[in-house]
Amino acid sequence: MDINIYKTSDELAENLANHIISNYLNNNIALSGGSTPLKLFKVLSKKLDKLENKMKFYWVDERCVPPESDESNYKMAESFLFNSKKINRENIYRIKGENQPSEEVTRYSKTLRNNLDIVGNFPCFDLVILGLGDDGHTASIFPYELNKFKNESDCVLATHPTSGQKRISLSEKIINNSKEIIFHVSGSGKKNVVDEIINKRGDYEKYPASHIKPNSGGKISWYLDFEAADNLTK
Ligand code: 6PG
Repeated sequence: MDINIYKTSDELAENLANHIISNYLNNNIALSGGSTPLKLFKVLSKKLDKLENKMKFYWVDERCVPPESDESNYKMAESFLFNSKKINRENIYRIKGENQPSEEVTRYSKTLRNNLDIVGNFPCFDLVILGLGDDGHTASIFPYELNKFKNESDCVLATHPTSGQKRISLSEKIINNSKEIIFHVSGSGKKNVVDEIINKRGDYEKYPASHIKPNSGGKISWYLDFEAADNLTK
């Protein structure tokens, strides 16, 4: 497990963007949503403007909303990452939140299987970037739906525990099948769950994020700022 800690969320975004640029310019990457990726997208977009690339973009999860909704993970990437002139729009494979959810689960799974290498019967991403909720959720799998994460399928239909919002998410099987999995986590609100998961403290296995373990040959890396890593050093 590779743990990278940076003083601020800006330095975190800069260094994670450099890691992506150095290793994944022509690769298949799955993005997460939420607020943490915003700084990364802005920095990465500027860097990509200067670089020829064949990056292909997918999503870890998406809310079942139209692409123009402020809730859409795609919309955030569209606004802040894909404004880079060097990204080929044909290399963007969004989850279509406007579609009927169970049909989109099937469609997106077919898209993954048609475009990614199949390793051990599951599509294989070169890089998956995950966020982490303060309740230990990752992708769109929340603790109360952990069993869904264990689902044998490529993608699952999840439900946000408080808003009831439907979401489409990669399952644990696909995420763990990636060559590199990165947890990109920022802010003091995450310090407890980061420490519990990394140091396997208490009832840590209740957290879906604790079930992210790359298959043999895969790598897991944490990219944290000081605030999110605060308890690690205690
Ligand atoms: C989503 C994300 C989700 C996110 C975490 C952390 O669709 O919301 O994929 O898993 O990564 O909720 O969100 P923040 O970055 O906003 O803390």
